[in-house]
Amino acid sequence: MRLARRATKISPSPTLSIDARAKELAAAGEKIINFGVGEPDFDTPEHIKAAAIEAMARGMTRYTPVPGTLELRQAICAKLLRENGLSYSPGEIVVSCGAKHSLYNALQVLVDEGDEVIVPAPYWVSYIEQVKLAGAEPVVVTTRPENDFKLTPAELAAVLTPRTRLLILNSPSNPTGSVYTAAELQALAAVVVEAGIWVLSDEIYEKLIYDGAKHVSIASLGPEVKVRTVVVNGVSKAYAMTGWRIGYAAAPAEVAKAMADLQSHSTSNPTSIAQAAAVAALNGPQEPVSAMVAAFAARREYILERLTALPGVRCRRPAGAFYVFPDVSAYFGRSFKGRVVESATDLAALLLEEAKVAVVPGAAFGDDRFLRFSYATSRENIAAGMDRLAAVLASFA
Ligand SMILES: Cc1ncc(COP(=O)(O)O)c(C=O)c1O
Repeated sequence: MRLARRATKISPSPTLSIDARAKELAAAGEKIINFGVGEPDFDTPEHIKAAAIEAMARGMTRYTPVPGTLELRQAICAKLLRENGLSYSPGEIVVSCGAKHSLYNALQVLVDEGDEVIVPAPYWVSYIEQVKLAGAEPVVVTTRPENDFKLTPAELAAVLTPRTRLLILNSPSNPTGSVYTAAELQALAAVVVEAGIWVLSDEIYEKLIYDGAKHVSIASLGPEVKVRTVVVNGVSKAYAMTGWRIGYAAAPAEVAKAMADLQSHSTSNPTSIAQAAAVAALNGPQEPVSAMVAAFAARREYILERLTALPGVRCRRPAGAFYVFPDVSAYFGRSFKGRVVESATDLAALLLEEAKVAVVPGAAFGDDRFLRFSYATSRENIAAGMDRLAAVLASFA
């Protein structure tokens, strides 16, 4: 069978093989502790669900405008102004089927065959594939743990070429949890503006932020950078709405129009009912968000306490998202029951088989010295998982 070249270039998600094996073991009756999931374990707040039911009852069951209802785009504009100091009009907003879809649309309209897209590593796995699907070439820049995994202006400047078209930024970051400060973003913005490239700023974890860290959107740092930025955000992570599939992009009108035109020939509008729910999320009470963030903050303290107590495991204190990203390279070259571990991928496979603990190896994010643990799970699960992990690591020769 001959598939399109485009399809043959896509790599399957490296996280999926661990996930598939974890599910197989669970189906066979094993109690797996899963630190692999990238979604809140909370339910969508009640007032948001009620808004969806009410929307159905009043017949909001038809096509909406392609870029989203005016009501939702107005709610997004109000949110961006109130929380991010960003002034956009509804014509500069495109609502899509999740932030992932917003990122996809943005790359499809901004980059061409042969263009280079700078992706700081560790990166969220879909960036690479989406860049390739747009025909462009990902240029991966490995950031350093000493710099809190943040791209520096010098690292950015060093990889610029005449073919560079766009930089992807993700703050707070999946998988590292790092959060860029305003000063750090300002320094990157200067390089971006000077080079005349685009920024695709993925801010989906904006609300999940701790220790008094502050989320800053790079677009808010001045008109020169704003006109070359596409801000992507959504309701999935902040409001525990991953299944509703609502994300959005804010971009200069010409870019927003191109994204909407593209979307008009693929998914058309995102689900009408989910859009009504998103209006309630953005305009309604924010206490449920604060409650979830407080729960994540407590779990973060606990998992960090447990991880940093493990010999040889080095773990930074991430300021955002719901992941910790410890360096486990001290175990490389060592063995467990005669099985030698050479990478985080080996260690993740071993932890699943021997400890029934599922984690994602750093290879999925471009750096296989690390493991990603999601703490979007109960404290009891974290405790049990850490006990099992400690027991396996203690038995390494
Ligand atoms: C960094 C990052 N961006 C975007 C997304 C996609 O969010 P959504 O569920 O709204 O498509 C995720 C989800 O895992 C993510 O981790």
